[in-house]
Amino acid sequence: MSHQLVIVLDFGGQYNQLIARRVRECGVYCEVKPYTTPLSELKEMKPIGFIFTGGPNSVYEEGAPQVDAKLFELGVPVLGICYGCQLIAHTLGGQVTAATEAIAREYGKTMTRYDSSCRLFQGLPEQGISWMSHGDYMAKVPDGFALTASSAMCPNVGIADEARGFYGVQFHPEVNHTENGIRMLRNFLFQVCGAKGDWTMGDYLKTAVAALKEKIGDGKVLLALSGGVDSSVAAALLERAVGDQLTCIFVDHGLLRKNEGDEVASVFADKQGHFIRVDAEARFLTRLSGVSDPETKRKIIGEEFIRVFEEEAKKIGAVDFLVQGTIYPDVIESGTGNAAVIKSHHNVGGLPDYVDFKEIVEPLRLLFKDEVRQLGRELGLPDYLVMRQPFPGPGLAIRVIGEITREKLDILRDADYIFREEIAKAGEDKNLNQYFAVLTNMRSVGVMGDGRTYDYTLALRAVTTTDFMTADWARIPYEVLDQISVRIVNEVRCINRIVYDVTSKPPATIEWE
Ligand code: XMP
Repeated sequence: MSHQLVIVLDFGGQYNQLIARRVRECGVYCEVKPYTTPLSELKEMKPIGFIFTGGPNSVYEEGAPQVDAKLFELGVPVLGICYGCQLIAHTLGGQVTAATEAIAREYGKTMTRYDSSCRLFQGLPEQGISWMSHGDYMAKVPDGFALTASSAMCPNVGIADEARGFYGVQFHPEVNHTENGIRMLRNFLFQVCGAKGDWTMGDYLKTAVAALKEKIGDGKVLLALSGGVDSSVAAALLERAVGDQLTCIFVDHGLLRKNEGDEVASVFADKQGHFIRVDAEARFLTRLSGVSDPETKRKIIGEEFIRVFEEEAKKIGAVDFLVQGTIYPDVIESGTGNAAVIKSHHNVGGLPDYVDFKEIVEPLRLLFKDEVRQLGRELGLPDYLVMRQPFPGPGLAIRVIGEITREKLDILRDADYIFREEIAKAGEDKNLNQYFAVLTNMRSVGVMGDGRTYDYTLALRAVTTTDFMTADWARIPYEVLDQISVRIVNEVRCINRIVYDVTSKPPATIEWE
């Protein structure tokens, strides 16, 4: 069954996939296409609407991304966001200039007034906070457009040509910081584009399985299984698509949490012959010895992973594809096109230039964590697996700050185990999306019994988040923190001080390295 389609035209902004995900949340199928896609191809896809994304350029600069003006003659509604809004104005005869002092560039949360007679803002309060991030300003809006939103600093934050179904906003309705932003997107999809909202994750599953079957044919596939949510869902998806052609390889790099290696192995125990556990601890620790730079650690681990896989693949023989459970936040934070590199996620930016497989397949590349969980449920995976908190590919290597040793890893494993145990005992695990301990490389003076100690400081990190792109530090009750602290300093050697991380993301990240 073919579904109504909305095309998100990508002009290089930070939130492009987030827009796509918001559209999917509304039950509307959506594809992100580069702005360079020929108009004829876009037309053939028969979209019911276009959304133009933001982007880092200024529309009036030479070489800035443009859109074929004939797109506006297709009779298909368009919503332009930020750069996308300016592009509509620029292309249809308006004028965009750099913002001046008087009409300021706006960044961050901004009180905005909306004209609720405009279909985009229908049924919404007349004012609210929106998330702005623009340095340009529409000095003149094109003929036929009305001004539909404003802020104290900027008279034309929103424009609309209701008759033709063209809308533009300078702010980002797709981010959570914009109050009612999702309702604006819904209005565009349902009131303007006539969407039905009948697309589901089950449809996504069918499409993904069909695409994987076609790509892989009768080739052999290896999957990098960590036992985490992403790779487990990828495994179930691949199994659905190609069955016994799939072999899962679980690299135990010695950087896992306490008992984790055995737990993963037991979950996949019934996949005889198609699940291989490789004990690679010595090999990883040797390569990581003396390394303290976080990016270098990530690169080494990423490369070593691939080498282990290649070796296992050779043993199996004639393996064409390597599957990885990379998800969208991994991709965006490792830097794509114009977006900046925050961290090299071991399964993306950490890859060596040369990889001895025909192709790397990443079927979850466009999904966010909660969508992956939804897909996992759709595939029939048990809830305890689907709801596991995420664990990064480089494992405890990026939670031991500075140089890694087996001893430090063991200290961290014991402390982290107590932290998790106490969180579960207090019933706090349901309120947290991720929580773990970090062994800092700082030592401080303490007193134990009658003696002086000079031991490590352990940091506890717990966050709440939906998409892991932004996160808030969790307000764990003091008495629970107290119990954790008392147990850890008493039961784990070499730790005499516990601190709790009270920074959100941004400006911090969830992991410390
Ligand atoms: P940050 O620290 O970037 O983490 O805020 C966001 C989410 O990603 C996880 N993470 C990783 N996952 N490979 C992964 O598979 C990695 O290299 C990696 N680094 C961070 C992190 O645990 C959090 O859930």
